[in-house]
Amino acid sequence: MIINNDFTYHDLKIIILEEVDSTNTFAKKYPFKKDGLVLSSHQTAGKGRYQRSFYSPKDKGIYFSLVLHDLNLSAQLYTIIMGIAISKYIKNSHIKYLNDVLIGAKKVSGILCEGVIVGNKYQKMIIGAGINLFETEVPNELKDIMTFINDKDLNVTSFITNILDTFYELLKLDNNQIIENYKNLCSTLNKWVVIDAQNYYCLDISSEGHLICLDENKNQVKFSNAEVSFHPNK
Ligand code: BTN
Repeated sequence: MIINNDFTYHDLKIIILEEVDSTNTFAKKYPFKKDGLVLSSHQTAGKGRYQRSFYSPKDKGIYFSLVLHDLNLSAQLYTIIMGIAISKYIKNSHIKYLNDVLIGAKKVSGILCEGVIVGNKYQKMIIGAGINLFETEVPNELKDIMTFINDKDLNVTSFITNILDTFYELLKLDNNQIIENYKNLCSTLNKWVVIDAQNYYCLDISSEGHLICLDENKNQVKFSNAEVSFHPNK
């Protein structure tokens, strides 16, 4: 196990699991009485966005879900904040809108934020993040798109603590300040991208975290949570 079993963080209820299907699935079901963090270094059914799976090989990455109950922001902004916090501690990384932390063109971390709604109100928000740490064999279809931090001296416990510290610091900022931090790391800005097979130029990110683009006829279009690819030759 690459995380100390006695890991603590302020007042969070910490649950460390040797193996789990998905820390997000576990966190959704677990009856937390306060905010918490589910951590594992092996997921057998890690979930990505758009119903994809998130490859989570044993002891080669860190997979965690932060559970918050006192909710003041949208899932979009929690995703953005976690992206900034993670990218800050990964050398040479940048963020592809919305939530892919990349080194070069390859993904080193992804974030999946899921709300649990009871009645008509969010009861808790699960902010799940997977970070690829140590190089290992990966399935063929991931070879060109997945990368690892690959720093053998990385202290995983301090790495997670730093990410959480930054996450909570960012929570104290207003939306515009959060987005300013995000824009400094977001490599999608001022680039041509492809969204749903259409080309767009990325102009800006709104204070709610929406991507503001121009289409090829120079009409302004706003996306939230869109799946964005860099345009291959524009
Ligand atoms: C994505 O890039 O599409 C999002 C990936 C999110 C993966 C993390 S790993 C911890 C948490 N548990 C999950 O099942 N998924 C998230």
